Amino acid sequence: MPSEITALRASFFDFTGVVSRPEEIADRARYLEDGVLLLEAGRIVGLYAWDARPPLPDEVIDLRGRLIVPGFIDTHIHYPQTEMIGAYGEQLLEWLNHYTFPVESQYHCPDHAATMSEFFLQQLLANGTTSALVFGTVHPQSVDALFSAADAINMRMIAGKVMMDRHAPDALLETPEQSYADTRALIARWHGRGRLSYALTPRFAPTSSSALLEKVQQLRQEFPDVWLHTHLSENPQEVAWVKALFPERQGYLDVYHHHQLTGRRSLFAHCLHLDDREWQCLHETDSAIAFCPTSNLFLGSGLFNLKRSWEQGVKTGIGTDVGAGTTFNMLQTLGEAYKVGQLQQYRLSAAEAFYHATLGGACALDLHDHIGNFSAGKEADFVVIDPAVSPLQRLRLSHSKDIWEQLFMLMTLGDDRNIAQTWINGRAVWSRDAGCTQR
Ligand code: GUN
Ligand code: ZN
Repeated sequence: MPSEITALRASFFDFTGVVSRPEEIADRARYLEDGVLLLEAGRIVGLYAWDARPPLPDEVIDLRGRLIVPGFIDTHIHYPQTEMIGAYGEQLLEWLNHYTFPVESQYHCPDHAATMSEFFLQQLLANGTTSALVFGTVHPQSVDALFSAADAINMRMIAGKVMMDRHAPDALLETPEQSYADTRALIARWHGRGRLSYALTPRFAPTSSSALLEKVQQLRQEFPDVWLHTHLSENPQEVAWVKALFPERQGYLDVYHHHQLTGRRSLFAHCLHLDDREWQCLHETDSAIAFCPTSNLFLGSGLFNLKRSWEQGVKTGIGTDVGAGTTFNMLQTLGEAYKVGQLQQYRLSAAEAFYHATLGGACALDLHDHIGNFSAGKEADFVVIDPAVSPLQRLRLSHSKDIWEQLFMLMTLGDDRNIAQTWINGRAVWSRDAGCTQR
């Protein structure tokens, strides 16, 4: 057995394939109470039951008692809102003006952007998130700082600079021409470098003129393999404003669709107040949604209709949407997603919740060939979970009869204390007890 192989012994849970109906999820779940995962050169070699293990290297990392799951995938988050998480009292449009824009204005400074990028990545890792689709600010240097930090640990990340040319403070506005030029330069610098990818990031329709959207469209045509990341139909006042700003369009989504910004690799955050035509358009264009429960509850934006997303065949991942979202932690985010379901008589199972947070999220980002489960050849990004870290969790775990109850307990009672280690590209980059291990 070549010595470069790393072997980890623990319990493992993942999903072996992408599904199109929630009823199929449990059938695709794989749970090995005693398994061994082999890694080589940053990739998964294979996952085996311990009793059916192939020849192993002399040293096996013994993590028995821990549960290893694929790294969590956060399909919508803003790194330059970390320092204003949990800001009191406002709903979307006032919240942007009072809190968000002033904080994002600080990111013209490269040193500030670098410091906050490091902090942000530490938060992701400490919470078991190994990939994310990330908003920067309008400043190209915000994205340079984030990509540099992610590249240093070989993290799979998609990000982009915000594009906006109206309805924000002057310091955050640009012309469509400048936005095009800066975005083009960032794509040339970062897209496809290591595990990094670029997302065209018009903030949302109200801060975009038609001229700006034309530039986004032009970039998408020039670079058809980049991602498109924006907000859609989050708040009723926002939806009404878009209708007033774009009376010639058939609705909010049509503002984007008209500029050919829907499609595979297009990710729309929120989607709380869609009409039938918009749901159909998301489906027909193979666009994806980020469901952001803590944000939607915190800003009082509305309840996402997960059942409808399945019925319409629209791929959906989970986003924390920090800093409107109130946690970086995916376990807590899944717990809130469950409550959003309860308010609509939709029963979000632990299986479905963990699917969205791993392979389903990868699929929403069109990254399922690279990440999301323990299939051989995939990139070795995973989380070592401590199944119980407090007297209450230990008591509840001792009363759990199977893996489903354990996972549901984690999304109800779990948090960052349960994240024992985070591995990226085959290396432990975070350990709860040692903090950052590889930087
Ligand atoms: N819509 C436009 N910008 C934002 C933002 O920064 N956060 C959220 N939640 N919604 C937005
Ligand atoms: Zn957002």
